[in-house]
Amino acid sequence: MSDIKFKRHRRLRRTANMRALIRENVVRKEDFIYPIFVVEGENIRKEVPSMPGVFHVSLDNLSEEMKKLEDNGILAVIVFGVPDHKDDCGSEAYAREGIVQKAIRHIKSNHPSLTVVADTCLCQYTDHGHCGVIEDGVILNDPSLELLTKTAVSQAEAGADIIAPSNMMDGFTAAIREGLDEAGYTDIPIMSYAVKYASAFYGPFRDAAHSSPSFGDRKTYQMDPANRLEALREAHSDVEEGADFLIVKPSLSYLDIMREVKDETGVPVVAYNVSGEYAMIKAAAEKGWIDEREVVMEKLTSMKRAGADLIITYFAIDAAQWIDEANA
Ligand code: PBG
Repeated sequence: MSDIKFKRHRRLRRTANMRALIRENVVRKEDFIYPIFVVEGENIRKEVPSMPGVFHVSLDNLSEEMKKLEDNGILAVIVFGVPDHKDDCGSEAYAREGIVQKAIRHIKSNHPSLTVVADTCLCQYTDHGHCGVIEDGVILNDPSLELLTKTAVSQAEAGADIIAPSNMMDGFTAAIREGLDEAGYTDIPIMSYAVKYASAFYGPFRDAAHSSPSFGDRKTYQMDPANRLEALREAHSDVEEGADFLIVKPSLSYLDIMREVKDETGVPVVAYNVSGEYAMIKAAAEKGWIDEREVVMEKLTSMKRAGADLIITYFAIDAAQWIDEANA
């Protein structure tokens, strides 16, 4: 049969070398941002039940975790605080001696080469578990911005290299940009959770961060999973307000959105491979139903293919090791 009647695509798949020559997207260790949960107390390294391999660590155990990142060539960490004390205005989020502020100072003084991203939100710190100020059961937008800006500035003061606001109040990027600039942090970029859906895939994170809302849900501020154009509006307004990176979250069910946000804005896009996505793979792998390594690498590659420049993932350390092994 001649070549004229049909295309022989398999020519370019014939050998491993050939496949490597034409590979379009590659996951690099430099793409990863590793999430870490920091708690008050001493000598704590406690596994999160719904996230095997992910731990709550106290400050005295933080260096051990950070060394793993350095040893494996991971450049960045995103810090989540799990405070002991919560109140209605989330005051531990912006306290000078708050758990995140202490963790940032610790990492920057002991591991200066790591880029530290601070998640800027209130839900772990408020007794009601919502990401803003509440009055009569309503989450107020503008009064929440003041607290978020205070939080961002306190994180920058502690040494954060990147501010990542995740609360989905309108105008958070503009407010935080202004606050950072006024405080002299004009060089600190904002990695905005611009497109954050009200997703059931955050379940294990809320167990880990003790941040489930005590009433209602987050649907008046996080986005409806049914919407695509709204995601583009969110992305555009954050770019206008000064976002330097745009996060799309969750990742796997939203690869279409990632691609569009990338093409429409041209701004670096960050995929947040969230806790529920992690837990599903871990559970299936534990049962022997899937090959964890193959599935994880395939899924990270699909995020790159969808336009992600960076990936926030709990798999970062394992994946970095697998990348090294594959290149050995
Ligand atoms: C805080 C925040 C959440 C996540 C990251 N930052 C939880 C939420 O919005 O309820 C989820 C991350 C994950 O599931 O891995 N607002």
